[in-house]
Amino acid sequence: MTLKTVHSVAELRAVVAGWRARGLRVALVPTMGALHAGHISLTDHVRNHADRVIVSIFVNPTQFGPNEDFGAYPRTLPDDQKMLDAAGVELCFAPSVEEMYPDGFATRVSVDGSFTNVLCGASRPGHFDGVAQIVTKLLLQALPDCAIFGQKDYQQLMVIRRFTTDLNIPVEIIGAPILREDDGLAMSSRNRYLTPEERAIAPTLDRVLGEITKAAARGAEIAPLLAKGREDILNAGFKSIDYLEIRDADTLERVEDRVRKSSRVFVAAHLGKARLIDNHAIDPINITG
Ligand code: PAF
Repeated sequence: MTLKTVHSVAELRAVVAGWRARGLRVALVPTMGALHAGHISLTDHVRNHADRVIVSIFVNPTQFGPNEDFGAYPRTLPDDQKMLDAAGVELCFAPSVEEMYPDGFATRVSVDGSFTNVLCGASRPGHFDGVAQIVTKLLLQALPDCAIFGQKDYQQLMVIRRFTTDLNIPVEIIGAPILREDDGLAMSSRNRYLTPEERAIAPTLDRVLGEITKAAARGAEIAPLLAKGREDILNAGFKSIDYLEIRDADTLERVEDRVRKSSRVFVAAHLGKARLIDNHAIDPINITG
């Protein structure tokens, strides 16, 4: 089966209705395009949960702040289509901004509280409202059985689980592991912004998170670990750090002194034109006896 691309909600619904009539299970992989191996790992992963895979490609203006990279965000539809075809994806949904936000559009989806006012929610005000708005629309347009999101955007995954539960959207949300380059850099469409010199510096994030994770899992005090991590990131050549924090993996509450339960260390930092994010899981090692 070769990849089919549709641009309207009506065409998307017609294809999905045909699959549903045949009793097939449908998966949605929401993306903003500029696809890389990390996205393809999501389509491969979700294959185990569905008979047909849809990848949506839409650079969503409402999740970008006024001084962010909406205009510069890479748009590479022909290359993306080739990758999806090679990966055996059945349907690409690539709507225009007018299709998603026609004249008169006036509805917001907003998630309050601890998932959205910390980390990227603090440094990118309004970002998660934009994500919640577009993901709600995509889910209601495609009505998939399941949808998959990468854990690089761990906070986004938590926000999406929250509003799909709160709004009773009948979909299974699946989280997938972070795919990394050989040197540890988490795969991201924004890695394309890096010059060769910056690209060589970028894996510092993964290295620093790895060191923090190892020590924190053994019960080390957190504050000095984070202070050293910040110093290492800035010394490596990053311009600034939005956050480097350890938070509870379920609630995203800040862990203050030592890690005692399943947590994650999160970072967002600026390197050249790119704002890079990453995170590692910290599972405390119980040292007994
Ligand atoms: O993670 C992304 O690429 C985007 O935030 C998403 C989920 C596709 C919504 O635009």
